[in-house]
Amino acid sequence: MLDKIEHVALAVADMDAAISHYRAVWGLEVSHREVVEDQGVEEAMLPLGDSFLQLLGPTGPDTTVSRFLARRGEGLHHIAYEVDDLGSTLEELESKGVKLIDHQPRLGGRGHLVAFVHPSSNHGLLVELIQRPSARA
Ligand code: CO
Repeated sequence: MLDKIEHVALAVADMDAAISHYRAVWGLEVSHREVVEDQGVEEAMLPLGDSFLQLLGPTGPDTTVSRFLARRGEGLHHIAYEVDDLGSTLEELESKGVKLIDHQPRLGGRGHLVAFVHPSSNHGLLVELIQRPSARA
């Protein structure tokens, strides 16, 4: 069902400061940076081995990431698993009674299809499922 961990997403309050920190302290560079307007996020992808760290910042005050930062502060936001068929994965999860945030795949960053699984159904972890454009039928 799951192919790999595609990225680990970290909520950050100041994107530029976080990028500088990850470069200076961990030697990681940004390969892609994008604002996903309908999600109210700016994301920066930092390649690490076969996966990425994703820095997630809010685009404004009334967004999911800004509410997350107000409630929980900076830190782990979600883990993204790559799948090769997101639609059928969502159907399988629903058949297992898992609570989904997105019942249908939608367009996320980098042209990927994404859907989120509710943490209340998953021992507290927010999971993003992600399908690469190249895997799309
Ligand atoms: Co993500």
